[in-house]
Amino acid sequence: MSQTYFDEEDHPELEHTEFDRLIRKGLSRRRFLQGSSAAAMGLFLAANPVARAVAAASESKLMGFKAVPASTRDTFEVPEGYVAEPLISWGDPILKGAPAFDESGLQDAAAQAGQFGDHTDGMSLFPLSEDRALLAVNNEYTNYDYLFAHQGKQKLSADEVKKAQAAHGVSIFEIRRNDKGHWEVNATSDYNRRITGYTPMEISGPAAGHDLMKTAADASGRLALGTLNNCANGETPWGTYLTCEENFHKYFASDQDEVEVHPRNKRYGLKAKNRDYQWYGHDERFDLAKHPNEANRFGWVVEIDPTAPASTPKKRTALGRFKHENAALTVDKSGHVVVYLGDDERGEHLYKFVSKNKYKPGDKAANRELLDEGTLYVAQFSAADGEIKGRGQWLELTHGKNGLTAENGFADQAEVLIFAREAATQVGATTMDRPEWVAVNPDGKSVCSTLTNNKNRGKADKQPVGGPNPRAENNYGQIVRWWPQDGDHTATAFDWDLFVIAGNPTVGEGLYKGSSNINADNMFNSPDGLAFDPDGRLWIQTDGNYSNEGEFAGMGNNQMLCADPLTGEIRRFATGPVACEITGMAFPPGQREVLIGVQHPGEGHVSHFPAGGNSKPRSTIMVVRREDGGIIGA
Ligand code: FEO
Ligand code: CA
Ligand code: CA
Ligand code: CA
Repeated sequence: MSQTYFDEEDHPELEHTEFDRLIRKGLSRRRFLQGSSAAAMGLFLAANPVARAVAAASESKLMGFKAVPASTRDTFEVPEGYVAEPLISWGDPILKGAPAFDESGLQDAAAQAGQFGDHTDGMSLFPLSEDRALLAVNNEYTNYDYLFAHQGKQKLSADEVKKAQAAHGVSIFEIRRNDKGHWEVNATSDYNRRITGYTPMEISGPAAGHDLMKTAADASGRLALGTLNNCANGETPWGTYLTCEENFHKYFASDQDEVEVHPRNKRYGLKAKNRDYQWYGHDERFDLAKHPNEANRFGWVVEIDPTAPASTPKKRTALGRFKHENAALTVDKSGHVVVYLGDDERGEHLYKFVSKNKYKPGDKAANRELLDEGTLYVAQFSAADGEIKGRGQWLELTHGKNGLTAENGFADQAEVLIFAREAATQVGATTMDRPEWVAVNPDGKSVCSTLTNNKNRGKADKQPVGGPNPRAENNYGQIVRWWPQDGDHTATAFDWDLFVIAGNPTVGEGLYKGSSNINADNMFNSPDGLAFDPDGRLWIQTDGNYSNEGEFAGMGNNQMLCADPLTGEIRRFATGPVACEITGMAFPPGQREVLIGVQHPGEGHVSHFPAGGNSKPRSTIMVVRREDGGIIGA
């Protein structure tokens, strides 16, 4: 594109944003910087002590809590005046008759299939009344160290493979307020449901029934078993839950070292030697040599009706197959449904889906299949040399357009969707620093996405330094923000900048110090979970390096931060226990509480979270509330 950066008069909110003021200053000095590198630009942005002091002094009207210091403790810390309590942990029963958690690791598959799955991740809350709600939660994966008494050091039995599959998927359960008004799990609710790695699913949309989706067990190509590696999530205004399949390649393997994989599937990491999970030995569909198409049935966004426990989840192939992070859905002012989607791998892409038909408020039947028909796009960013803002466009991934033709190896639209990564390359998408969550500002005007990190930036082919990925060997991550043209989420043009460049101002140089809204008190690395609350606070969760050493010194354990999109200020809100990731959040109506996911405490390290003592660490959802009953974050 010829236009290099946008007209700032279109973005009056930037007047209030110290970071953007600095970027603009940078732009006005563009002539001075011409011919210089992104690093020189970074020196101005990140190292100017005057600018930093100004940023620190800006005052947020959205945030009123006292920041939490970085922590390396094995606890979950929240600000003064806040309380955090566990709501549910891996292994707690949610189906009638399911046994209580037993930390021996000897419980069988049937027990796990009635209990809360492992590795809590994205979650959505669906209110039933003021005091009752359904919570749908992803169970991303499991850790054999803790799942089995033998810590995964033995060959798995058939029941153990089934148990591991039952630890995956989605848990849906009712929560209600108790006598004190605090949320608790209703383990006997008829809504409660476990969806696992073997729950029947319908394949719907353009790839359903395609030859590449057919297997020995399913000649129709329309009935898959299970959902796996359910990372982040989304929800629709018609009351359904979206669960997103991420690292599905890990479950497929073979005893033969050399297995022929479809050339377009290599990019998804499918290979015979991914044997850690050991599933292929007892569940033949995961044997890559015997059933090569089974892997094509994973890597999708799945829609689930949480209010209908007997309903069949649907894999929505119109949204493309990649390593999905979340599905940030918004209804555009035109009525079309727009879903923003990240593909979490170094050098992969950002996507959006625009529905063909329009959302009809209150008409669940009419809205039910909206995600089956529409157009998928992938993002291309542009910027002038050394600038970290610019223009962008959404490139259509439709068979017959933009080189997506039979000549180029795409026989039909199903192939474009099944091999969306290759289609994205064909049309000229920008390689990104691992897109994780996307969040749509409730004002409808802007969208943010976490680009978590990318150690290969600047090293690998086709991963040039610049634009929204301005640092080589990026171990810290950044948040890219864009404004759809004219506030129209269906538009193909947008403007973009970076809301924050994470970094370490105490040990880093240039851009590695971070942008001016990063300081010694709020620094973090690897932003991942991301969501706006209804008031417009931007909540950031991290999944990064918690060594607290070297380039990560002073950052401590993974954490959750709150940002004011208007001032750019970022404040640490919570810190997690040892070796956890903080991921997944939900705000009950009224925002008097926030539910926060603590995933895999003690992974590869020693943790006894949440029960303490000598207990086994367990992924846990925390409920955080204010002692004075006030709005979270205010
Ligand atoms: Fe499951 Fe990219 O995080
Ligand atoms: Ca993530
Ligand atoms: Ca991550
Ligand atoms: Ca994770």
